[in-house]
Amino acid sequence: LSKETQDMLSAHEWLTKLYHHLLRFTKEGKEGYAYLKDRGIDEEAADIFQLGFSPIADHLTVEFLKKKGFHEQLLVKAGLLQMNEAGHASDRFRGRIIFPIRNHLGKTVAFGGRAVGDYKPKYINSPESELFHKGKLLYNFDLAKRYIRKEDEVVLLEGQMDVIAAHQTGVRNAVATLGTALTEFQAKLLKRYVNNVIICYDGDRAGLDAAYKAAVILRQCGCEVRVAYLQANMDPDSFIRMHGGQAFIDEVIKASDTFTTFYMRFLKKDYQLNLEADRIQYVEKVLKQIATIDSSIEREYYLKELSNEFEISMEALMDEISGYREMFA
Ligand code: GTP
Ligand code: MN
Ligand code: MN
Ligand code: MN
Ligand code: MN
Repeated sequence: LSKETQDMLSAHEWLTKLYHHLLRFTKEGKEGYAYLKDRGIDEEAADIFQLGFSPIADHLTVEFLKKKGFHEQLLVKAGLLQMNEAGHASDRFRGRIIFPIRNHLGKTVAFGGRAVGDYKPKYINSPESELFHKGKLLYNFDLAKRYIRKEDEVVLLEGQMDVIAAHQTGVRNAVATLGTALTEFQAKLLKRYVNNVIICYDGDRAGLDAAYKAAVILRQCGCEVRVAYLQANMDPDSFIRMHGGQAFIDEVIKASDTFTTFYMRFLKKDYQLNLEADRIQYVEKVLKQIATIDSSIEREYYLKELSNEFEISMEALMDEISGYREMFA
């Protein structure tokens, strides 16, 4: 590592400690602490995830870093400070709850800052830097990886709050993409540790679309993918808050759909299934997916589902699918 990179890491480490201290033990951090409490985050989780608070009056953090000997320019380059037009450097995350973002070695390489309450933007993340490439890192991977290995299963979530809520209910094998699309790099990283991926993104349109894209990438990388179902207005964190951790495990994670079942649901958005022509197109599209399944037992299972839902005979479906299977053979 270059001297500059080491200094950047060191600045992140100091700031992680400072922000955390401010949250836990000072009046400057009270607002942030109360907010987290209100959202059901306990002290243990606040400590494990090193949650912090950056005070609105940011001279505290800027002076702290300068006193530690870091140059303003380096801190700007590391994305920790931002420079205004008058050349005044200020804390990028001021007035926000701090989520340190650690790399696979457990080193903080970036921060996510959440507004306290309903301010926009809701989250501010560190910019890309030589330390932090968003598409190459998964939130909480450093802590989750031993559980991921042990259980041969990873739960893929969207946000920090989802990971922490999952952690508090005992789901330790969860990581998050921090709201961006899963990259091939991240999929390959997971595949080195695990075969089974359960995607549990937010139940809204954006989450559904992102889940489909992630599933395709993960399957290309050789992972076995399941997709958990959440109602449109829910994410894992809000589900756990409303229904409890056990319900999350039993009714969401364990009840997750196979990729094909998810696909059958997902695809419906493109069709108006009250129209005959759309129904036929939909069935044909699903049949092509089912045709790629190796197990004949599984194939028959999904064909029965289709047969029941669309009142098409099994013979017709079998006949159609054998054509597709020959095509793919
Ligand atoms: P909470 O209200 O804290 O639970 O957030 P949310 O559930 O509304 O987050 P959302 O599902 O919108 O996004 C998931 C993740 O994407 C968050 O944990 C953030 O890491 C990231 N994210 C969300 N909003 C923003 C934003 O406005 N800017 C940036 N850069 N990232 C965001
Ligand atoms: Mn949102
Ligand atoms: Mn979301
Ligand atoms: Mn969400
Ligand atoms: Mn949320």
